[in-house]
Amino acid sequence: MLHIENLSVNYTGKTVLKDLNLTIPKGKITALIGPNGCGKSTLLKAISGGLKSATGQVTLAGRDLSRLNHKERARCLSILPQSPITPEGISVQQLVSFGRNPYLSQWGRLSAEDDQKVQQVIHQTGLSELAQRPVDTLSGGQRQRAWIAMILAQDTEYILLDEPTTYLDLTHQIELMEMIRQMNKQGKTLVVVLHDLNQACRYCDHLIVMRQGQISAQDSPDKIFNSRLLKEVFELNAMIINDPVANKPMCIPL
Ligand SMILES: Nc1ncnc2c1ncn2[C@@H]1O[C@H](COP(=O)(O)OP(=O)(O)OP(=O)(O)O)[C@@H](O)[C@H]1O
Ligand SMILES: [Mg+2]
Repeated sequence: MLHIENLSVNYTGKTVLKDLNLTIPKGKITALIGPNGCGKSTLLKAISGGLKSATGQVTLAGRDLSRLNHKERARCLSILPQSPITPEGISVQQLVSFGRNPYLSQWGRLSAEDDQKVQQVIHQTGLSELAQRPVDTLSGGQRQRAWIAMILAQDTEYILLDEPTTYLDLTHQIELMEMIRQMNKQGKTLVVVLHDLNQACRYCDHLIVMRQGQISAQDSPDKIFNSRLLKEVFELNAMIINDPVANKPMCIPL
């Protein structure tokens, strides 16, 4: 389990996250949903140890993450930020191989095993034909796939993805959500920020709903996804019906 206790974040005197307490269930897919600016990206960054101004505690299987060094933490938990910055001129294969950095010896060379992992992930994500292309020449969707491949190469038990479906057409969104499901079946625990609430309900076991830096609700979609919640959190008038394919709640905005 990943436990977050009394987590607060201030940016230049403004409180963005206030005393959050939450648990990310192990072995599940958790969706983090909430309106623009409510603090989702800040929460993921704070969990991954990327925010100096964060106070509170994040523990993974009882271990305080702040006590681990950068490499140790990067072997437990990976994060794909909302707008990752691509280093100029690097190829897809180089980007994917960065995922192996936490495993490199002090000489910094990829082992045969690391190389094999990189090739396997490139193949798995359908990037074989683009492997030698500079990442900054790819389309938005192709680039997103390259970043996901890097995260897969990092091979951590916990994976945090901030809006991974942005830039993807609907077919590729579904393909990515299926890939997330596959990763989960292989034992990964995922936390995914999504704006498509119906995809969140369809693919995720657990929902964390945020509003103005606080948690409004956290439980399974079946238990908490209702029109009152959507009104309270998103100021959205919507009706909830049963998704006939997934047998999960689904919202229709009015
Ligand atoms: N580096 C920063 N300095 C100052 N304020 C920041 C900083 N980063 C984020 N904020 C503010 O913190 C609040 C939460 O931002 P955050 O990026 O976490 O929101 P979000 O829920 O991810 O939104 P979105 O859905 O638009 O991505 C916003 O009001 C934002 O303007
Ligand atoms: Mg965000």
